[in-house]
Amino acid sequence: MKYKIMITAVLLLAVFFGWRLLRPMQIFVVSPAFERPVSTLDAPVMFTTLRAGECAGCHREFFDEWSTTIHSQAWTDPYFQVDWKFDGAAQICKNCHIPLDRQQEHRVSGFKDADKWEPLLAPNDNFDAQLQHEGVTCAGCHLRDGKILGVLASRDAPHPVAQIDDPNRICVGCHVVSGERWDTFFKFPPCGTVAEIRSAQGNTAVVGGGVLSVTEVASLGCVACHMPLVERPLVAGGAVRKTRRHLWRGGHDPEMVAKGLTVSFNKTVGAGARNYTLTITNTGATHHIPTGTPDRHLTVALQVLGERGNVLKEDMHTLKRTVMWRPFIVDLWDTRLPAGQAREYHLKLPEELRASASAVEARVDYHLLDEARRTRIGYENQTPIEYPVFRQKITIDR
Ligand code: HEC
Ligand code: HEC
Ligand code: HEC
Ligand code: HEC
Ligand code: HEC
Repeated sequence: MKYKIMITAVLLLAVFFGWRLLRPMQIFVVSPAFERPVSTLDAPVMFTTLRAGECAGCHREFFDEWSTTIHSQAWTDPYFQVDWKFDGAAQICKNCHIPLDRQQEHRVSGFKDADKWEPLLAPNDNFDAQLQHEGVTCAGCHLRDGKILGVLASRDAPHPVAQIDDPNRICVGCHVVSGERWDTFFKFPPCGTVAEIRSAQGNTAVVGGGVLSVTEVASLGCVACHMPLVERPLVAGGAVRKTRRHLWRGGHDPEMVAKGLTVSFNKTVGAGARNYTLTITNTGATHHIPTGTPDRHLTVALQVLGERGNVLKEDMHTLKRTVMWRPFIVDLWDTRLPAGQAREYHLKLPEELRASASAVEARVDYHLLDEARRTRIGYENQTPIEYPVFRQKITIDR
């Protein structure tokens, strides 16, 4: 009798694991903030297409800045396209990468499942392919309930405006994804930029569904770091105001990543010392570096070089968040740099290389994704998926 129960239990467990392997868990929980596309039904009548070009007619500089960003490529981005198709081209992904209803071929009329990963779709007469190609377009952030959101409470706009309490509120709608479920074990939900900031502020709770209080939102600082302040008019000939550049630099921008880090590579003091230390500190971000999708990582290489620059010895370290996705989602380890934290890597020149070594070199590289994943999903990148962040050579004096 006892055995029968045990065997049944083991069998059930095996079936459960098998089923999880075949049908892996959804990697995030759908929350009301993005379960449906943004409605454009009550868009101000002065707008006919809602395309960025329409706003550019008056807000040229904002348009020019936005055009250089990954937001404007959130749909056409070839990495996104390949990854999205590899993952089964789920509709839910569109609600952040092409957030407006007119950007999507289908209307969402309801859901087949409780998790809201399988929407009921109907044809969309208002679909605009050109608008789709604008990814996170102006109206995707600015249009809600027929009004243009902003913080200035402008009285001079030809379109209706609505004042929001804090500009960071706009970011939170898409940059918070919850992973809270009884059967997932995340320290941070996937792409947990907001959760990382909150944990650095001493608040360890996982952020669910993007529901944050006003003070919490205000303390995030996304806009302060990612949209530098500049005084200029909003429209040609308009009053000069405190505005924010629409730049949103991140992992695709070597300069931005370098700005977040303070790196030094030094010989340990002392006569005849043959030890070297690389120190890397997150001094420029209140979230981890790297942040965002767990694909992002940094590598640190400490090399001993020969006369001709040939590598005699190399120590490699990776700063990455490693998640086990199947059969359960479990955060395994996280070697990224939390806000304000420093990490040291040591290199000791081995006795046997003393004669042949001529220099030691430290290299820090940023990777948008790793080679193994690039190959698995079949992403044939035209632009580099990695770039140098720091290089320093120290000659060995004898
Ligand atoms: C016909 C010209 C025109 C067009 C087109 C236009 N705007 Fe404006 N907008 C203005 C003017 C004028 C102001 C007010 C400037 C001021 O107060 O200094 C303004 C103000 C704003 C503000 C600030 C609101 C606040 O109170 O903080 C935002 C945001 C904005 N526009 C976004 C947009 C977006 C997005 C589009 C396209 C969907 C757009 N605008 C299209 C003229 C225009
Ligand atoms: C409508 C959804 C949405 C909103 C709102 C939004 N983002 Fe994004 N953001 C995205 C998506 C999607 C991407 C990734 C696009 C891609 O790489 O394909 C992204 C990428 C980024 C990046 C990474 C750039 C890089 O080089 O990879 C930064 C930084 C960023 N957003 C900051 C912000 C800030 C700050 C705000 C608030 C002002 C904000 N975002 C609001 C959807 C959004
Ligand atoms: C990723 C979200 C996002 C996108 C996309 C976006 N904006 Fe903004 N925009 C903001 C935020 C946040 C603010 C408020 C900044 C602040 O605190 O002043 C803002 C402010 C503005 C303002 C008022 C001036 C200011 O800086 O406060 C104008 C005008 C504006 N945006 C126009 C545009 C236009 C035109 C586009 C498209 C070409 C666009 N925005 C795209 C997030 C966005
Ligand atoms: C103190 C400055 C600072 C604040 C505050 C900040 N960031 Fe960043 N952020 C950075 C720096 C520096 C980088 C570049 C290093 C990196 O990619 O981790 C970055 C990178 C990013 C990226 C790029 C990730 C990728 O996949 O390429 C995203 C997305 C992002 N931040 C979103 C946010 C959001 C959302 C907030 C607010 C919740 C925020 N950041 C607050 C400084 C900041
Ligand atoms: C809640 C909003 C949201 C949803 C839903 C969402 N994304 Fe994203 N996605 C983002 C944001 C924000 C970023 C940029 C920050 C980062 O790197 O995590 C991003 C970045 C990415 C990137 C990295 C792009 C690059 O250029 O490096 C890929 C790939 C991606 N998303 C794929 C997907 C897929 C596939 C889905 C559906 C299963 C999806 N996303 C659903 C918000 C979202």
